[in-house]
Amino acid sequence: AKAMTEEEKLYRFNGVLYPTLMCPEENFKCLDNIKAREDDIMLAAYPKCGFNWMVGVLKKIMAEGTGNKNESKMPPMMEFFGPELLKVVEGSPSPRLLGTHLCPDNIPKTFKEKNPKILVVFRNPKDTLVSYFHFCNSNPVLPSKPWDSFFTDFMSGNVAWGSYFDYALAWDKRMDDPQVLVITYEELKQDLTSGVRQISTFFGFSLTDAQIQQITGASSFNAMKESSANSHGNMGQVFFRKGEVGDWKNHFTPEQSQEMDEAFNKHLAGTKLGDKLNY
Ligand code: A3P
Repeated sequence: AKAMTEEEKLYRFNGVLYPTLMCPEENFKCLDNIKAREDDIMLAAYPKCGFNWMVGVLKKIMAEGTGNKNESKMPPMMEFFGPELLKVVEGSPSPRLLGTHLCPDNIPKTFKEKNPKILVVFRNPKDTLVSYFHFCNSNPVLPSKPWDSFFTDFMSGNVAWGSYFDYALAWDKRMDDPQVLVITYEELKQDLTSGVRQISTFFGFSLTDAQIQQITGASSFNAMKESSANSHGNMGQVFFRKGEVGDWKNHFTPEQSQEMDEAFNKHLAGTKLGDKLNY
């Protein structure tokens, strides 16, 4: 088969860019058929905000909390489900872990009806951009870009899953929803133990301090990077790159930093989420 050009690696669906190979249009039709459950454990994040970190944490919380120590092999990303995976998901026992990068307005309606709890993880936009830049340049299903053009694409929302700011504004409307827990990458880096405790309580599990400590230890960046061949195969080292706050300082020019500050202020200053991101 002819190799895809860099341009063909993304395509537009309902106005937003998605990876052509991972999220073909057929997957969005499948999503229309998914049946949500009240006890689904949902994870939402814009790309590169710590999604895989939280998948690891949630799987461990679920294993301890339900007593079923066989961690689910089900890949959690909803928009990656084709017809076969959808069948696996429908046949999976509760609670199921379901994740998505979709903007909340594009999450299938069935989830609005059943209203399961959702953990949303956010990260400051500068580090998110840096992480996304490296990811696009090391993941063959995404288009490689030099730094300056990736910066421009990110700022205008011309990246897979669309604009960071649109995504953040959409979740900002649900900050007071008791079914939604918003946590930031920076908070988790500062105090993972209390993050793990907060997440497990939110989803209704009552774990002991020893269980919380064990999950925290196994969810550090180094621990997860070491076991990444198991969890992510040969993409492991790509998903667990550096795991730090502030790497943007090694990439942004002063002008780019200022442009991001202005965009952040324009979209998010004075919002609850903007304050939480403490930017
Ligand atoms: P960096 O590229 O800055 O290293 P996602 O899973 O949403 O794609 O996010 C990936 C980012 O989360 C990467 O950021 C990755 O290193 C970081 N990450 C993954 N696991 C982590 C952990 N246990 N602790 C801190 N950061 C982690």
